[in-house]
Amino acid sequence: MPPAIAVDRRLSRPVRSQIYEQWRAAILSGRFAPGKAVPSTRELATTLGVARSTVVDAYGQLIAEGYLDASHGSGTFVCRKLPDDLLSPHRAPASARRDDAAMRLSRYGSSLIDDHRRNSGAPGTIEFPAGSPDLSRFPFALWRRLLARRLRRARPAVFDYAEAAGYGPLREQISAYVARIRAVRCTPDQVIVVNGSQQALDLCARLLVEPGDEAGIENPGYHGARRVLAAHGARLRPLTVDGDGAMIGGAGRNTRLVYTTPSHQFPTGVSMSLGRRLEWLAWARSRGAALIEDDYCSEYRYSGPPLPSLQGLDPGAPVIYIGTFSKVMFPGLRIGYVIAPPALVDAFGRAKWLTDRQTPWLEQAALADFIADGYLERHVRRMLRLYGSRREALVSSLHEHFGRNVHVLGDAAGMHVTVQFDDERIAQRAARNRVHLVTTAYCYLDRAASREFIFGFSAMTERALHEGVKALAR
Ligand SMILES: Cc1ncc(COP(=O)(O)O)c(C=O)c1O
Repeated sequence: MPPAIAVDRRLSRPVRSQIYEQWRAAILSGRFAPGKAVPSTRELATTLGVARSTVVDAYGQLIAEGYLDASHGSGTFVCRKLPDDLLSPHRAPASARRDDAAMRLSRYGSSLIDDHRRNSGAPGTIEFPAGSPDLSRFPFALWRRLLARRLRRARPAVFDYAEAAGYGPLREQISAYVARIRAVRCTPDQVIVVNGSQQALDLCARLLVEPGDEAGIENPGYHGARRVLAAHGARLRPLTVDGDGAMIGGAGRNTRLVYTTPSHQFPTGVSMSLGRRLEWLAWARSRGAALIEDDYCSEYRYSGPPLPSLQGLDPGAPVIYIGTFSKVMFPGLRIGYVIAPPALVDAFGRAKWLTDRQTPWLEQAALADFIADGYLERHVRRMLRLYGSRREALVSSLHEHFGRNVHVLGDAAGMHVTVQFDDERIAQRAARNRVHLVTTAYCYLDRAASREFIFGFSAMTERALHEGVKALAR
């Protein structure tokens, strides 16, 4: 693997020097070991999108200075013996200690854990992946056309730095979309386009949490939100979830912020009742606290009318509404939005600017067209029918095979169901039958429920769902 080399054409330093310096640094730091083959000049030029002669020049200098060796005719290698005077400081124990100290992680850095894809099973096992839409059903040909049309017509100015809060026409489309679909009430100015809900949560924590502040979080709840709040130093207060949603009793007198998923509680699938919503709104107003409403997949409701958003019930309340296109389109798009209360709009814009300037223009522009031309709602309607049948298939299969010994929690909504089994040996049975079950244990702040699992259904065909459940019951 070549060390990660990137060229930045906006820098005044010539590309040739950038390549030379990055290789030299990679070799001196030991990231690219003596004797290792380096990519050919042609390969590297193609990867970086630069002229081959530029790479030839950079390699020439590295060879001349004794970092690379091209004398064998079979390729270019990192020299086995590097210029001693340059290497010696790296060998000195005193400086190694200094390096260690310099690499000590911050409190934030050491609080992070690697839970990316933690929930996938071993190869060959049957899985019920949660949270992924069925990508084979997304109209990618249309999406490519929309991107290409935008690119063809783009004036150079659109590639410049732009408004941190997002591309104007997309903010207008989003404010109209959430008004239609979720009864959210806002102006386009209140919309901040972000890189998925995860960035929205990160900005909320940066803006509203001081280390030591209390934050209420559903228990069980969404680990993505919990980890962000904890990483920013919040003291978490678990909010028990009953049949009406997160309970207020868990919030303390000093709780400044509460994170909830009212339309489809993650992971239980409970929808917060109207009464509980009104209670939370009154609580937040009386305590001067903020509510985060994560409406991550509210579009998918398979029976009964959707309950209006918390934000729409009381537009003046301190509610930060978060939405995402990860579930209704595809997660790799990395576009979500915050509907900020007017008093926080500027702060969100500044935080977005400081964090990563802006979300890429091209995808924002194509998305504005996708919504404006009615494609998004058409796609959602189709997926609603498809996922509704899949959910039905999964639930009936579970009942067929486990009878009264299985309990499906929550409402007919979302992209997964959470299930409790009576069978104490269900985990062993799953392992024996090569079925990978995802426990809800990681969603709990304290003692987890036993024999409780998340079954995603959106990315599986009805047949695969039936077969998966049958294999589990074997
Ligand atoms: C509760 C909840 N919120 C938000 C998201 C979506 O995150 P993102 O928009 O960052 O892809 C997920 C994804 O699984 C989720 O479960």
